Amino acid sequence: MSDNKGDTLLYFPTVVREVKIANAAEINSQIEAGIDKIRETEPNTLPEAWSCELYTTIGAPGTLKDHEEFKPLCDVIVEEANAFAGILDLDVKFRPLIFTECWLNIYGEGHAQEVHTHANCVISGIYYAKAPEGSGDLLIHSPYNDTMLDPPHARVNGFNMKMIPIKPEEGKMILFRSYVKHSVKPSKCKDGEERISIAFNLTM
Ligand SMILES: [Fe+2]
Repeated sequence: MSDNKGDTLLYFPTVVREVKIANAAEINSQIEAGIDKIRETEPNTLPEAWSCELYTTIGAPGTLKDHEEFKPLCDVIVEEANAFAGILDLDVKFRPLIFTECWLNIYGEGHAQEVHTHANCVISGIYYAKAPEGSGDLLIHSPYNDTMLDPPHARVNGFNMKMIPIKPEEGKMILFRSYVKHSVKPSKCKDGEERISIAFNLTM
C-alpha cells in the first residue's frame, strides 16, 4: 500500500432528478380523457429519421398545453422544473424558464424509443401516466459513450457505466438537462396494455 495521499474528485456529473408527484392519482384521472381525445384527433408525428415504433405527438408544439385536462400536470411540470433549476443554480430570476412544449408518447408491446437529446432546450423531462408491468425502462446514457476507448472493466461502477436504467412508475417525474442522451427499452406490456408518458421541454 502506497503512502501517497490522493483524492478522487467527481466533476461534471450527469444530474438526473426523480420526483414522486403527490397528487398523481388526481392528475392522472384528469388527463385520462385528454389522452383518449388526443389519440383520436392527432396524427402520429413519429419522426421519419427514427426507426423505432410508438405513438407520439412530438413536434406538435402546444398540443397538450392547449387541452384543459392537462393543466394540472403542466402546473406541476413548471413547479418541478423550477425546483430542478434551483438545484442546478440556473438564474431563473435573470432569465425565467419558459415551458415550450409537452407531448404524448404511447408504447404498446415492442415499442421503444432510440437514443436522442432534446435540442435547443435547457431542461427536459418525462412524466409517467401509465406504467403497467413490462413497461420499458428509461435509459440515461453516459455522456462519455462516444469518446471512451471502452477498455475491459472488472465490474460496472459509477465511473465506467454506459447507461443507467430508470423504471417507469405511475406518477413519477424524471428531469434532466436537455443534452442528456436517453432512450426507452422495448416494452413487454401484454394484453393490449400501454406505457403512457408525457415528455416536456423548457428553455430560458
Ligand atoms: Fe426524450
